[in-house]
Amino acid sequence: MPTHDLYADRPGDSPWQVPATGAARFSWEYDDGRERLLALYQKGKDKQWDARTRIDWDLEVDPYDALGTPEEAMSLYGTPHWAKLSEKDKGELRRHYASWQFSQFLHGEQGAMICAARIVESVPDLDAKFFSATQTMDEARHAEIYGRFLHEKIGLVYPINDNLRSLLDDTLRDSRWDMPYLGMQVLIEGLALAAFGMIRDTTSKPLPRQILTYVMQDEARHVAFGRMALRDYYKQLTEAELREREEFVIEGCYLMRDRLRGVEVLENFGVPKAEAEALSERSEFLRLFRKLLFSRIVPCVKDIGLWGERLQRAYVDMGVLELGDADLELLMTQDEELAERLDAERFAAEERARVAEVEAAIESGAAGD
Ligand SMILES: [Fe+2]
Ligand SMILES: [Fe+2]
Repeated sequence: MPTHDLYADRPGDSPWQVPATGAARFSWEYDDGRERLLALYQKGKDKQWDARTRIDWDLEVDPYDALGTPEEAMSLYGTPHWAKLSEKDKGELRRHYASWQFSQFLHGEQGAMICAARIVESVPDLDAKFFSATQTMDEARHAEIYGRFLHEKIGLVYPINDNLRSLLDDTLRDSRWDMPYLGMQVLIEGLALAAFGMIRDTTSKPLPRQILTYVMQDEARHVAFGRMALRDYYKQLTEAELREREEFVIEGCYLMRDRLRGVEVLENFGVPKAEAEALSERSEFLRLFRKLLFSRIVPCVKDIGLWGERLQRAYVDMGVLELGDADLELLMTQDEELAERLDAERFAAEERARVAEVEAAIESGAAGD
């Protein structure tokens, strides 16, 4: 079915066009790649996988409770609106929230694919182009997966959130080659990764857990790449140039914290916009969620050397400064291990089923003698 028929609201013009301003850069040096970047490129090639076969698409999903979200985690919970909802309405509200969340993941992944391709085009060094080419493929796979999940399992798609769209627009329009990294790999992907992780670690449903676990395995490489490339580059920038990047980060962080909350969903359930915003502000669960959303961004920003006073003050204001001390390396290693463990568990379960089948066949054969 065309996605057009599944949109909860009108998605705007398609294709959405963002004019490009940067140069395409060729490098004629084919033999001076940085070892760590080339190792990451090798890993990117080794760890390619096929979403059609690695994910068990036969697993059933209840679209009205796709993630097993507890009631208290719904922003309407405990309000007069909640009391008025029938059980059927509550299921519908869950479906819209899951759709909204995974639709932002989907559009974000398309953005990541386009940004990665832009990096292939604009980054000066060949080692970084090589890695970004593998990332472009990873992001295509992620968009494929989220699109399939929404089409087959949820049956409802939300348009891209206006603020996410404007951040993507700023990121892609900028002619400086490091801006797609900063906007996309550090901010948008950092935010997405934290959201993936929270769902992966809390959902009781096997299909979304599989999807998020495997996607996060790839994302760990993307984060490592963004950090390496930007850390090297930002060492060469002037104080003024660094401050410009910090301003961009501060603005982006506030925008995502305050404006990416699924207010659109509540509006579709008849809650006026201002009230919907106030409700998301008030919800204890969402407040915690918003703080955790920065768990991947803050340590990364600190690590690449954007840690000026203004930025630190903004993070104090958001209550997330101490996240800067988180061990990003460890988090990413865990993301990769979780995916490998899940593969091993699924393989062992299949093996057990196969052995049981053979034993049953032997037994029935023996009984027939
Ligand atoms: Fe991705
Ligand atoms: Fe990514």
